[in-house]
Amino acid sequence: MYNEIDLSTIEAGQDPPLQEPERQYYFMAKCRRYVKAESERLGRVLTAAVITFGCQMNARDSEKLSGILESAGYELTDNEEADFVIYNTCTVRDNANQKVYGRLGHINSLKKKNPHMKVALCGCMMQEQSVIEKIQKSYRFVDLIFGTHNIFKFAELLANMYEAEGMIVDIWQDTDRIVEELPSQRKYAFKSGINIMFGCNNFCSYCIVPYVRGRERSREPEDILQEIRRLAADGVVEIMLLGQNVNSYGKNLKNPISFARLLQECEKIEGIQRIRFMTSHPKDLSDELIQVMKESSKICRHLHLPLQSGSTRILEAMNRRYTKEQYLALADRIRREIPDISITTDIIVGFPGETPEDVDETIDVVKKVAYDNAFTFIYSKRTGTPAAAMEGQVRDEVVKEGFDRLLKVVQDTARERVARLEGQTMDALVEEVNEQDPDFLTGRLSNNTIVHFRGDKSLIGTIVPVCLKECHGFYYIGEMQ
Ligand code: SAH
Ligand code: SF4
Ligand code: F3S
Repeated sequence: MYNEIDLSTIEAGQDPPLQEPERQYYFMAKCRRYVKAESERLGRVLTAAVITFGCQMNARDSEKLSGILESAGYELTDNEEADFVIYNTCTVRDNANQKVYGRLGHINSLKKKNPHMKVALCGCMMQEQSVIEKIQKSYRFVDLIFGTHNIFKFAELLANMYEAEGMIVDIWQDTDRIVEELPSQRKYAFKSGINIMFGCNNFCSYCIVPYVRGRERSREPEDILQEIRRLAADGVVEIMLLGQNVNSYGKNLKNPISFARLLQECEKIEGIQRIRFMTSHPKDLSDELIQVMKESSKICRHLHLPLQSGSTRILEAMNRRYTKEQYLALADRIRREIPDISITTDIIVGFPGETPEDVDETIDVVKKVAYDNAFTFIYSKRTGTPAAAMEGQVRDEVVKEGFDRLLKVVQDTARERVARLEGQTMDALVEEVNEQDPDFLTGRLSNNTIVHFRGDKSLIGTIVPVCLKECHGFYYIGEMQ
């Protein structure tokens, strides 16, 4: 999208510029020469795969990695048997880490067959010292490792990788920098995520994100709006504003601005038809935001409002800074003002000290709020977080019992809640051809529910009215009107 700079005009002999992003464009030009030479040697194009784990923020980062790889002359592929493979990792729960180690085992055997293959690792997991030590010891074939704070330097690191022998490791402990205007290759032509802030200051006691993503930093509103205007000019109709806690956006800027005000500015941008955002921390959700959502014709009727636990005692130990009653009152206020809204949530089961009675409290909130969907997670101990050192770590069988009990209520409530729209006609943004049946399309309603219906793929990226014929749990089978 920002590929206006003609890389062929950048001289390789010159010293690299000190200023960003110019410096990275210099290294992209340099990488392009390496890729071209290697491609001529092999007599074919070079391919690169970006494999993403974790949240929407990682997905957005991967689009930036893809943009840089494309500028360097690689052809992008989903196939891990590529000339260059990069894993953008997540460490929020241990199973995310285990997946990466599993994939690396497979890559090791591929690399034995293709020694010219290059392998890189980046993302949240790389911000942990113990992970770096393990990779240096047991996965020596990895060529490049970097973290979350210096992802903007990817082109430079890639160029270093071509020039050096052995593993390159570049991890920063923190940063206050935000480098704008690098290329990005969007997964979807018609929708895009936009980072409005980075990092997190909340330090929920179970969570590793503040340690691996650093302190909260908001982007300047004008930079965000400029990016959205460009996206709109490029055909994007739906945007998703991304941050770990969007409700505290803008508070620390030199000229503070609220998240609700930012949304109002986004709403004015022509061409943008839908606005989404992720994630809202309940403690910072303002009445101003509820009013702005209520009056908006573009902000989607969906709010992801992580609960984590319904027990005030556990919420306190989690350092969430709201009580069960405050959460319920907030959900009530939202439902009263915006009755057609869907509320979804995240819940953790098995936090240290949690009893079956605490799980009952969580189930009570699930029933009262009537979520359209809830992501339920088993607590995962993250080294370095306060909860990892807490007494009362819950036994696996007890966690499993609570988890299954909760999941049943979540599924029953969601099924009932989603089904309320059966028979109605609603607008859906057509996202893709259905994975199971090529005669069907898959679209998303404003409230984030998925609907599958018969239609032609030329409709992808457009908003069409669909009658919601049959509810199948979390999704609908519909008919275009
Ligand atoms: N910033 C977002 C959440 C980011 S992590 C927020 O505050 O809502 C996404 C979800 O992962 C969290 O909502 C939480 O439910 C879950 N999670 C985070 N740390 C976890 C852990 N140690 N074990 C299990 N689940 C966890
Ligand atoms: Fe983690 Fe809490 Fe920050 Fe969300 S708000 S990223 S759960 S510390
Ligand atoms: Fe995972 Fe990092 Fe996101 S730890 S959830 S990828 S911020």
